[in-house]
Amino acid sequence: MIIPFISKGLNSKKRVVSLRKLLPLENPKKYTVTAALPYANGPLHLGHLAGAYLPSDIYVRYLKMNKRDVVFVCGSDEHGAAITLRAKKEGETPQEIVDQYHTINKKAFEDFGIDFSIYHRTSAPEHHEMAQKFFLELNDKDTFTKQTTEQYYDEENNQFLADRYISGECPKCSNPNAYGDQCEKCGSDLSPMDLINPKSTISGNKPVLKETSHWFLPMERHEEWLTSWIQEGKIHGKQLHNPKEWKNQVTGQVMSWINAGLKPRAMTRDLDWGVKVPLEGADGKVLYVWLDAPIGYISATKKWAEDNGKNWEDYWKVNSETGEAETKLIHFIGKDNIVFHSIIFPILLKQHGEYVLPDNVPANEFLNLEGDKLSTSRNWAVWLHEYLEEYPDKIDELRYVLTSIMPESKDSEFTWKDYQDRINNELVAIFGNFVNRVVVLTNKYYEGVVPEASEVSDSDKLIIEEVKQTAIKIGESMEAYRFREALSGAMNIARIGNKYLQDSEPWKLIKTDPERVKTIMKIALQISANLAVAFAPFMPKKAKQLEQMLGLTDSLDWNDLGSFSLIQENTKINQAELLFNKIEDELVVTQLAKLEASKLDNVPAEPIKEEITFDDFTKLDVRIGKIVEAEKVKKTKKLLHLKVDVGGEIRTIVSGIAESYTPEQVIGKQVSVLVNLAPRAIKGIESQGMILMAENKEGKLSFVNPSEDYIESGNSVS
Ligand code: MF3
Ligand code: ZN
Repeated sequence: MIIPFISKGLNSKKRVVSLRKLLPLENPKKYTVTAALPYANGPLHLGHLAGAYLPSDIYVRYLKMNKRDVVFVCGSDEHGAAITLRAKKEGETPQEIVDQYHTINKKAFEDFGIDFSIYHRTSAPEHHEMAQKFFLELNDKDTFTKQTTEQYYDEENNQFLADRYISGECPKCSNPNAYGDQCEKCGSDLSPMDLINPKSTISGNKPVLKETSHWFLPMERHEEWLTSWIQEGKIHGKQLHNPKEWKNQVTGQVMSWINAGLKPRAMTRDLDWGVKVPLEGADGKVLYVWLDAPIGYISATKKWAEDNGKNWEDYWKVNSETGEAETKLIHFIGKDNIVFHSIIFPILLKQHGEYVLPDNVPANEFLNLEGDKLSTSRNWAVWLHEYLEEYPDKIDELRYVLTSIMPESKDSEFTWKDYQDRINNELVAIFGNFVNRVVVLTNKYYEGVVPEASEVSDSDKLIIEEVKQTAIKIGESMEAYRFREALSGAMNIARIGNKYLQDSEPWKLIKTDPERVKTIMKIALQISANLAVAFAPFMPKKAKQLEQMLGLTDSLDWNDLGSFSLIQENTKINQAELLFNKIEDELVVTQLAKLEASKLDNVPAEPIKEEITFDDFTKLDVRIGKIVEAEKVKKTKKLLHLKVDVGGEIRTIVSGIAESYTPEQVIGKQVSVLVNLAPRAIKGIESQGMILMAENKEGKLSFVNPSEDYIESGNSVS
């Protein structure tokens, strides 16, 4: 990082002194920044943004303002069981699903100002080709072991069942609907073999165990170098990165995995959606999605390089002559992806031999929403594409709020009230207000022409120094991936500016000491220009607007942060425009109501019973019947002895409805009857079926009966 330092007064030519002692390693030639490829099986929400996409975008914008050579890659993760399950649920093909969400998500990122160099996709033929090549190269280097294991198989559908395709009872909490990889109720990680009474979610049948062979990555072989790499940043004594720059929670999570003992992990799957395993004897097998997806970063880079006249290998491989990395690889992810980016993918990259390893994996924690976990399946989310549609003029405001609460070191929470408060009390009241006063007064006093300053007072010097010190701190925070802190530093510059105006009161002095006012306004204008620089990575559109208002023509350079010669004397600035508008209560009320409504949609009225298959359902034979006789069963309170005409045949049914209906009330009623329930004796009477009833919260029963008269007794209900 280069921090400009101007030693003399206001009008001195800027003299840049490099304070760049912060980085342990030499400035790399290039940066390869990745953001986790989101699954193309649903839209993006605020949690995604705060987790990986906004921090990576801020960092990349910062690097570019430092004139660094950066590629910023992302794209859709289009394979894996999450996609095929979604497709099945919607009755569409996996390709249709990924096409739909790839388009939605790509556009949402663009509109939100996430400045990817390329947004690629893993269903692209170029990706399949690269992933296969990478796999073969690894296979040639004895990276994998082939192992035969028993796996669950659905005999009706003739397929092996991926973890997500098996459900059963959780051994830990008895949730009857746990999946083969995880119980969503108690959060335990499971394997299919752990489930009690496993069932195929495709057919509902009990799966059988069948042998299958797969390529496994024996991760335990890599424990030693991984430990030294994570803890010291060294492999075989060679320093690759500074481990102090890694977040504690990332290093901690990785070490706890390693200390628990790494195990072989299957790198292939029996599935028909994915990248085909390019080996003989691998029919019906595809690469494990967590092998193919990170290679997506490489194939995206390659595509971008081809389209832009670059060489992709410069961004991924070590220099073949010196063996040195000339690019810094940085993976921005959410914490649920740590093991894949800090253990599995590094093993593959190292094993390959030519690739660089990540310099850092700045993973974020989770963002909660209004007191609850964000959840796509429960529809508890603020969806990005909806926000963009509702508030297309408040994009940078959302970027600001999300950065202010970014879950960098622990989980954090988004609430609409806080959104309103931060915008109104910070963006409007501090930043917007300061800039507005400066631009309005400059126009009023000098017809928009930047005045020539005279004497700089001691108090002015203190202010200048304060801004410079703040600028240095912002730069340090940026280098350390502490964007919340950097943003709050940027806001502090606006605070300094506001206080400066408040204390020096140019609006009073203009009558008595107009010369002094020129200096004050000149300094205030320089502070405003500093704001355009400091906020640019966070709020690019607002920074641009401010830049134009101030008549700044050169593109913003991060090295100018802290400079007091950003706007030259005699420059003509433009009229004031409001940068931010107040958020009214109405917005908060509307958004909270919307969330409440989504809650109602999704709360099951009562705990829902264990899932059944369509086949289970069709076993029920329900008919329309008509009650022809009814009397109370003696010595009971609840039971009625009924004779029901189910289409010519008269059934005897004992039904527990006597507390809700008298015999007289039910004679002649049409009802739904389960006619193939095994007969059983109740109080000595053989009951040959069951009447379907609805029950309200107070326990009052009513018939489930047809409302249309032309339905006849004996009609099937289905
Ligand atoms: N699709 C994964 C998720 O949403 C992330 C994949 S990141 C990559 O959790 F490395 F695999 F690309
Ligand atoms: Zn459980």
